[in-house]
Amino acid sequence: MDKKTKIIAIANQKGGVGKTTTVVNLAAALSARHRAVLVVDLDPQAHATLGLGLEKQQGISIYPVLLGEKAVEDVIQPTKWTNLNVIPSEVDLAGAELEFGARGDRLEMIRNALAPVREAGAFDYIIIDCPPSLGIVMTSALVASDGVLIPIQAEFLAMDGLALITGSIERIRASVSPSLELNGIVFTMVNSQARLTQDVISEVRGHFGEKVYETTIPRNVRVSEAPSMGTPVVFLDPRSKGAEAYKAFAWEFMAKNPTRGVFAPAPAPAPAPAPAPEPAAQQPVSDEGVSDSAVPPAEPGDAPANA
Ligand SMILES: Nc1ncnc2c1ncn2[C@@H]1O[C@H](COP(=O)(O)OP(=O)(O)OP(=O)(O)O)[C@@H](O)[C@H]1O
Ligand SMILES: [Mg+2]
Repeated sequence: MDKKTKIIAIANQKGGVGKTTTVVNLAAALSARHRAVLVVDLDPQAHATLGLGLEKQQGISIYPVLLGEKAVEDVIQPTKWTNLNVIPSEVDLAGAELEFGARGDRLEMIRNALAPVREAGAFDYIIIDCPPSLGIVMTSALVASDGVLIPIQAEFLAMDGLALITGSIERIRASVSPSLELNGIVFTMVNSQARLTQDVISEVRGHFGEKVYETTIPRNVRVSEAPSMGTPVVFLDPRSKGAEAYKAFAWEFMAKNPTRGVFAPAPAPAPAPAPAPEPAAQQPVSDEGVSDSAVPPAEPGDAPANA
């Protein structure tokens, strides 16, 4: 099993497709499963920062690290949840495209900024929330990453949008970062009743095969309410459809991207009766079967505890 910190950028140049929601809830669900997670908010809108219950604060972001004014360790903030940390965003990042665009190391600047954190190995996953544009910040975030996770909506011209970002990934792979992978594609805000939705999902699966996550995230009002409470929906309302989907997605993500897990929690209490069979892709390869107050074990949509 790979023991290194995995860096995953969540990116799509299209706005409003569920990037930040996926960052916040994937990170939250992973942290509840005893994975140490660092969210890096690179979007000056700071929605991931706010969604994790933190305020914007001047000087607490990747920006002073990029300027060489602060060490990256000094801008990592804990959230109120165990294992869940964030490098917040701030307004000054809005100028980064212009300000850093001419830097000789602009492509590697985020990779270099995060290098000490990666080398220290204290996190299982570093999850980067990218702004919605194919600019220097997003490109630099992709260069810093092992993989790119693309949230998309199942709508007309979805494939065209995917071609843009997968083209960027290809170019980065061919130049500065040969090991950069397409981690996967996840459908967000899915309305499973709509015929177009099913057609688009089939088309994208036909093209990208197993890169498309089995789990899809439904449109769910609790998901859209959670940011205003500064709490990920997986903690706010763990039984809501949106939270269940993000927890199932996190299982699938962990199975595809295994890390050691930072803690070795005690074995979970005796599991509830065996859950209903699920698609193989939603089962973890291995996990400790943790019990967690925010994300209850052994329920439909979760993997069996120590099964
Ligand atoms: N599954 C869902 N169900 C209902 N609403 C959702 C869902 N996912 C996201 N939303 C809402 O859709 C809006 C856009 O989501 P989000 O901010 O995650 O997208 P984004 O891609 O990060 O946007 P931007 O490109 O502006 O950064 C938000 O208001 C969010 O609360
Ligand atoms: Mg966003």
